Amino acid sequence: MAMSLYSLPQISTHRVKAPQICMALTLNNAPPKSVTIKPTPKKPSSNPKREKPNDRVTHSMSPEKIEIFDSLEGWARDNILKYLKPVEKCWQPKDFLPDPTSEGFYDQIKELRERAREVPDDFYVVLVGHMITEESLPAYQTALNTMDGVRDETGASSTSWATWSRAWSAEENRHGDLLSKYLYLSGRVDMRAIEKTTQYMIGAGVDPKFENNPYMGFIFTSFQERATFFSHGNTARLAKEHGDINLAKVCGLIAADEKRHETAYTKISQKLFEVDPDTTVIAFANMIRKRISMPGHLMHDGRDFNLFSHFTAVAARLGVYTVTNYAEVMEHLVNYWKVDQLTGLSAEGRRAQEYVCTLPHRIRSIEERVRDKEKEAPSVPISWVFDRSIKL
Ligand SMILES: [Fe+2]
Ligand SMILES: [Fe+2]
Repeated sequence: MAMSLYSLPQISTHRVKAPQICMALTLNNAPPKSVTIKPTPKKPSSNPKREKPNDRVTHSMSPEKIEIFDSLEGWARDNILKYLKPVEKCWQPKDFLPDPTSEGFYDQIKELRERAREVPDDFYVVLVGHMITEESLPAYQTALNTMDGVRDETGASSTSWATWSRAWSAEENRHGDLLSKYLYLSGRVDMRAIEKTTQYMIGAGVDPKFENNPYMGFIFTSFQERATFFSHGNTARLAKEHGDINLAKVCGLIAADEKRHETAYTKISQKLFEVDPDTTVIAFANMIRKRISMPGHLMHDGRDFNLFSHFTAVAARLGVYTVTNYAEVMEHLVNYWKVDQLTGLSAEGRRAQEYVCTLPHRIRSIEERVRDKEKEAPSVPISWVFDRSIKL
């Protein structure tokens, strides 16, 4: 994804009456316990999911730390930029879509639509959620450029950090583009409702809560890319099960990109753990406490302000992104960065270390309860599939 965007499983904001740990996993501003969602139009400006400005922490990295990122400039050039794929070697959306210059164009579309007919609506809701999340890339690039010490100061800066951000965005741009064109041709979804959601979402922006702090920002992106890797990988598996091999390949290719991005971001954070373990582990705990949210958490279609929760609930039910995946992402990162082996930490650093190392176990302890609650979920109309009722 694009910032790539995943994180919180839908532990279902409206279904689990939340013990402490569960709250830590839910998205901001859990929707009310409503069962029936009436499609009453609301003004975009009334979106209640925004945090109050007073709650906001900004520029939390001390200015002298900028030197660390300056000093890592050469390291990033040698060790991170290699995870970008040369454009000439990248796949492009056209490679996996009917070819409008070929004589068989109409037949190819017909085949695509025949395969798409076999795929159920709930799968499409998840795929559309992925597509909109990817299509909101401008918001993520903007968010990356709020980070002190690594932002693209000119829009075309030649620093390693800026070079990475732009080229990463350019790679991500193909994801939404391909999914969007596929969905359009499938004839299965309400493109107008989807396009409106994308426009609303880019207008709403994202709120990753990383405090303009690259220590936190790179933790966030590491988490997101791995979560997105899981999600696209799981839609690939489901598409295959539904007999749409072409779509499975598309989702698989996107997952592979996310994996490569994850490697780059986790290596950046790994380096930060090496050069400044105390600040990095504190940033890790801080980011997790803030409940890493999928970048799409401000998603809405102009009338359903719980749309994001509905999308993530369906994704959880289909096994595309679950509380188990969330725990796995956490566990993987803790192990990859060898957080339990960090030494020489301050008291705050040790508390942070303890918090992040024990969290995966605590998440796993509520898995079953979450799954039980999910079984009681209602169905709601989703605009993306012409208001057909979808079980959450
Ligand atoms: Fe990504
Ligand atoms: Fe992506």
